[in-house]
Amino acid sequence: MTAAMFDLSGKTALVTGAGANGGIGHAIALGYGRAGMRLVIADIDREGLHRTAEELAALGADVLAQPCDIASPADVDRLFAAAEEWTGRLDVLVNVPFAFPRRCLPHETALDDWQRMLDVNVTGYFLCIRAALPRMLAQRGGVIINIGSNAGSTALGRGAFAYSCTKSAVHQMTKELAVEYGARGIRSNAILPAQVRTPGLEQHLENPRFRDAVLPRILAGLPMGRLLSPEDMVGPALFLASDAAAAVNGVLLPVDGGNLAMNAGGSPSGGGEDRG
Ligand SMILES: NC(=O)c1ccc[n+]([C@@H]2O[C@H](COP(=O)([O-])OP(=O)(O)OC[C@H]3O[C@@H](n4cnc5c(N)ncnc54)[C@H](O)[C@@H]3O)[C@@H](O)[C@H]2O)c1
Repeated sequence: MTAAMFDLSGKTALVTGAGANGGIGHAIALGYGRAGMRLVIADIDREGLHRTAEELAALGADVLAQPCDIASPADVDRLFAAAEEWTGRLDVLVNVPFAFPRRCLPHETALDDWQRMLDVNVTGYFLCIRAALPRMLAQRGGVIINIGSNAGSTALGRGAFAYSCTKSAVHQMTKELAVEYGARGIRSNAILPAQVRTPGLEQHLENPRFRDAVLPRILAGLPMGRLLSPEDMVGPALFLASDAAAAVNGVLLPVDGGNLAMNAGGSPSGGGEDRG
């Protein structure tokens, strides 16, 4: 009974941003493959996508890999047509990719950058969700998991203005979907990571200025005292996809080591003398 609740074997998931670069989509796709799910994976990066497909095949998972820029309506149409032809079933959609061309202050934000972030982070998610819904409605069930961010629920600073705005939109999208489709068996939830040790962040960590000046500020906001890992997102993604989460709908689930629980003036207690 308990195990059955978490059983995902034989179900089909479509994960965008699943390219093998060590990021969150890659980790979730592999986690789903290990759980016995059939996978449709998509990414703008063809080589990374191909590598994830090989890794999934090595795990024994059925996999369809389809290159796709989620900001392109034609690409998204092709992705969902290929998925429909391949499996005719879609139990779980996970929206992962993001664009964040550069950090800058609001008054320095170039319109092109703003537009690309809206195109990928908001319109891309909308296009994939809109394409998935008819199939899920026909099945009378499905799960949508959006990757949001702590940046969508609290102001992050550090030049994240436009990115944060788009992540807030993802959170709101998640809640609207939960309300509109909950009665029709479609659950929508979001996972909100804080700073995750992806290859992108690893690159920053090689820069001594980042390590000395920025990393301590990031860690001060992470009560668990460490950066997150892509693998930290896998358990929550398995749970939300499973029947164990049958009544979980419209939730913005922080997977952030306690980041959002801590208000701006908070910090962990030290030895006991520093409380107050
Ligand atoms: N890494 C973090 O610290 C962090 C923190 C909070 C939230 N997030 C969120 O987690 C998600 C994944 O982040 P990550 O750091 O793992 O990213 P990543 O860069 O490691 O991986 C993202 C993947 O998406 C692909 N991609 C990019 N643009 C695409 C597009 N237009 N169409 C299709 N695929 C595209 C990339 O090729 C890559 O494989 C994002 O939504 C991000 O906003 C990340």
